[in-house]
Amino acid sequence: MVDVILGLQWGDEGKGKIVDFFAKDYDIIARFQGGPNAGHTLYLNENKVVLHQIPSGIFHRDKINLIGNGVVLDPVTLKKECEAVAIHGVDVKHNLFISERTHIIVPTHRALDKASELSKGSNKIGSTLKGIGPAYMDKTGRNGLRVGDLLRSDFKTSYQALKAKHLQLLNNYQFDEDISNWENEFFEAVEFLKTLNIINGEYFINQQLKAGKKILAEGAQGSMLDVDFGTFPFVTSSNTISAGVCSGLGIAPQHIREVIGITKAYCTRVGSGPFPTELHDDTGEFIRKAGNEFGSTTGRPRRCGWIDLVALQYACMLNGITKLVMTKADVLDEMKELKVCNAYVIDGKETLHIPFQMNDMSIEPKYKNFEGWNCNISNVVIYENMPEKMKIYIGYLKEFLGINIDYISNGPGRNQIVPVS
Ligand code: GDP
Ligand code: IMO
Ligand code: MG
Repeated sequence: MVDVILGLQWGDEGKGKIVDFFAKDYDIIARFQGGPNAGHTLYLNENKVVLHQIPSGIFHRDKINLIGNGVVLDPVTLKKECEAVAIHGVDVKHNLFISERTHIIVPTHRALDKASELSKGSNKIGSTLKGIGPAYMDKTGRNGLRVGDLLRSDFKTSYQALKAKHLQLLNNYQFDEDISNWENEFFEAVEFLKTLNIINGEYFINQQLKAGKKILAEGAQGSMLDVDFGTFPFVTSSNTISAGVCSGLGIAPQHIREVIGITKAYCTRVGSGPFPTELHDDTGEFIRKAGNEFGSTTGRPRRCGWIDLVALQYACMLNGITKLVMTKADVLDEMKELKVCNAYVIDGKETLHIPFQMNDMSIEPKYKNFEGWNCNISNVVIYENMPEKMKIYIGYLKEFLGINIDYISNGPGRNQIVPVS
């Protein structure tokens, strides 16, 4: 069977930490979409590691970690990540597998991403500039190169043909960066990638399922960044919701059991686009500092705001969420008052629905106020010892969403997670 862990907001909910925590209960941890735009943070004692493409189960030596066909893979970033995990004693040749159908990000994808963003002027997506959009465009446009192609003798010819197409496109933009350095490191990284376990992902995972193995599918980004259902066009280029698990790994829907959704106790967004509960005041600034809300991939300050139950309810519906994990509860420790958005007011009318287009309309969040618990919860290990005021806050979310919150994460550390009894 397959369980899924994914983000319900605009990314950075703490998926890396939670996947690492649950990984011990599974045989295979598999990424099904996204690419190096993701930044999943784990702590190994005091050591911080940020993974971009390698699944967050990699530090469990006896588990297989699979990069699925739905991912777009940058060999350069992958090589760096492999070197970073090797410092902690991980031999990726032993427990990292890559699907041969995974599409590759080439240097000109990054160039196209940059050129496209520049051309958008004030309407920038706020892309991580890792080449994600152009790589997925080449996948759906049926031009892209896949990991399996690296092993073919004509790879360089196919690469040159794709590059020529990209250079033609780049002529339409004002882009004059020299990509030859990017190319050198790309080909070096390709040679490294060829030495890893490149497999047929769909047969592998289905054989494992048949043998009774347990799979944990790890999402990247968040549901509100989904290319179909997120705040389009300010989204990423893949299906981040649970539906992406089937196409991104090659498994049939009936294998999926739990879909575990992760939400912060508040909300953040990095990059442009609508964010109804965003705080532009001292409280927003306070949350950014207390939560160290700076992008794991780009270092950009994350925009911060109150938890948005309209968006969360929508995300739970789309994903079929069966359990919730709430992260970063400790970040709110010093707050005297908390707010929860439980409806949007649009043109004077209250609604519980996410509108078709959120960009150029005024959405006024309706808030319910809660007293803050105002004490340090980062050392609490059993739910019973959590402050009553936090239990009231959690109770309201649970009731509104109609889904149990099974765990509360109260710090970045590997063991800072409390089961809700
Ligand atoms: P991901 O992309 O969903 O894996 O999340 P990121 O790693 O980009 O961002 C989450 C950040 O919050 C990281 O710096 C984590 O170390 C940190 N973090 C995760 N859970 C908690 C928590 O419960 N409390 C605090 N204070 N930090 C947390
Ligand atoms: P994890 O997995 C937060 C955002 C970017 C931008 C938009 C499109 O760490 O949660 P892209 O590079 O995909 O073309 O950018 O999506 N974005 C993320 N925001 N966390 C992420 O990943 C993100 N990946 C992309 O900031 O607004
Ligand atoms: Mg992240």
